[in-house]
Amino acid sequence: MLAEKLREIIHSLEMLPALPAVVQRLLEVAQDKRSTAEDMGEVISKDEGITSRLLKLVNSSFYGFSRQVSTISRAVVILGFDAVQNLAVGISASDLLAGKDDAGPLDRDRFWQHGIAAAAAGRLLAQQSGYSPAEEAFIAGLLHDAGRAFLNQYAPRAIEMLFEKAKEQPGRDMVDIEQDVLGIDHCILGANIFKHWKLPEQVIWATRRHHSADTDSTGRSGQIEAITYLANALAKIRRIGSSGDDALPPLPKQLMNRLGLDDGHLLRVLMEMDQEVEKAGALLQIEMGKIEKDVPEHSERLLLVGTTPAGIRPLKLTLEAGGYHPAVVRSQALDADTVEKEQPDILVVDASDGTFDLDSLNGQIPGERHSVVILPRDSERGNVSPGDTGQLVAPVSAEQLLGAIDTQRVTSNG
Ligand SMILES: [Fe+2]
Ligand SMILES: [Fe+2]
Repeated sequence: MLAEKLREIIHSLEMLPALPAVVQRLLEVAQDKRSTAEDMGEVISKDEGITSRLLKLVNSSFYGFSRQVSTISRAVVILGFDAVQNLAVGISASDLLAGKDDAGPLDRDRFWQHGIAAAAAGRLLAQQSGYSPAEEAFIAGLLHDAGRAFLNQYAPRAIEMLFEKAKEQPGRDMVDIEQDVLGIDHCILGANIFKHWKLPEQVIWATRRHHSADTDSTGRSGQIEAITYLANALAKIRRIGSSGDDALPPLPKQLMNRLGLDDGHLLRVLMEMDQEVEKAGALLQIEMGKIEKDVPEHSERLLLVGTTPAGIRPLKLTLEAGGYHPAVVRSQALDADTVEKEQPDILVVDASDGTFDLDSLNGQIPGERHSVVILPRDSERGNVSPGDTGQLVAPVSAEQLLGAIDTQRVTSNG
């Protein structure tokens, strides 16, 4: 069964259309140190579609140049070789992967919305951390889940099996399931596709590593992998689109340190993403649907308790992006003094890593307070505090977390 799946996938990789000749030529020109802006302009201008979309992009408010940029060679002078190369490659690669019809169960619009959101977040993260060219981060974000798009289009039965497995085992890591069912995950698959297309090295690397939090990569590779990891997480936290897996990944400080970013930077990217997403979506001709922009300001007092900073961080950002201002306490147990001091309306307890003392919740959630407890997967400790507790199984999505709090709010108001 597995061998059959794998054969199907590898066979389709060979069937994968080649990048347009223009883009292949462009990659050669870009790698040749003697090339000039004119050389690059000449190559790209051979493809009308890519040329017009590139110029539209460069002249859009995305870049905010005061004067009209009318030729590709001028764009190369202004933006640089690498930036133009990345944009041209990204545009044509996403065209090839987008497919003409919906072969598999993935929702194509929602898939590319997720890519656009990660692209926008990646570009903002690159700008904040001084990574250049920022277009590389944009393209890495746009294409990071290409492995899934590929499966959806060329091996739809494989991705159907994945989704079935995921439904049977809620809370289980999708990358894990992919390796289990297919013997390969969408990160490696995407990287292989891009190697096949000879895309820029950093885009291949970022795609391969966008789910690997625990790495010691350094230099530009370390930076682009951290940017793309965080960009994927922020797209999920901001709830724009979906690539079939909405689980919030942990956000380790070490990845942020690598980029010189703190929690405030991530929150700012979340707040600035919407505008970037709308512009990028229009330019890449992707239907973005309705992005909920007016975040409601909630007056409920939230207290977020958990043990690991990397686990707490995505929850806190989700709550903040959802209009809450949670107080955060790092502790292995809930104590009466904290509850007394913070007087929360709703408690959010992250017990997902299994180190939190769930018994400490008993008696701490009096009638007027409510709580949402995130339990570890495979937890047998389901029944924490009957009556008052909304329970989720980790890893949770932003939608699940905010939905569970909503339910508690309704209960507390009614
Ligand atoms: Fe992914
Ligand atoms: Fe993703």
